[in-house]
Amino acid sequence: MTQAMRVVVLASGRGSNLGALIAAQRESDARFEIVLVAGDRPEAPALRLAEEAGIATLALDPRGYPDRASYDADLFARVAAYAPDLVVLAGFMRILDPGVLAPWVGRMINVHPSLLPKYRGLRTHERAIKAGDALHGASVHFVTPELDGGPVIAQADLAVEAGDTPATLAARLLPLEHRLLAATVDLFAQRRIALDGDGVRFDGALLATPLRVNAPFSPAR
Ligand code: GRF
Repeated sequence: MTQAMRVVVLASGRGSNLGALIAAQRESDARFEIVLVAGDRPEAPALRLAEEAGIATLALDPRGYPDRASYDADLFARVAAYAPDLVVLAGFMRILDPGVLAPWVGRMINVHPSLLPKYRGLRTHERAIKAGDALHGASVHFVTPELDGGPVIAQADLAVEAGDTPATLAARLLPLEHRLLAATVDLFAQRRIALDGDGVRFDGALLATPLRVNAPFSPAR
């Protein structure tokens, strides 16, 4: 059997996506292993969740550092010590220094609650409702220096319903987001996804559009 893909997860908050990855790891026939969960907020529930699952944790408070670059350099030196094949940003609420990020491009993904390229940044559910969108969703993309701007690997979508509020829409999207992230990490673990310039290769072929990962999981080409 090939070795399990080593995954480091960075999370700042609640950790529901991390929880989905922990569950997926158990179901993945040991295709991947979360070797570290690191975060910038020592009190984050995500770190408690990792501890309960017996995963190594690292809480690194940015307040002890003079600037973003020195914090990010220290964080990623510690991450590198775990030799990850893939770094997953799962609700990591910091923008990364481009110089520190550069060597990780192609090995780092982020889950974002919108159908990118729509609605980079925050308040995505509110913005989708205000725009009158019929469809909303979540994306998993490669992390590049452009905020929420890297090549999109996979998306899950759902219909916006009359009367939806940002809270109801977020609540309906969250389980889809969890499946999307878990399925995408598992595709990485099967070595089926790779970054190629500004594009994404899936089973060796450049994707014309992101994979659609709506439940049940069936990657369409
Ligand atoms: C998710 O909505 C994710 O898409 C966004 O931050 C949120 C994190 O939630 N990047 P959780 O901490 O995984 O519960």
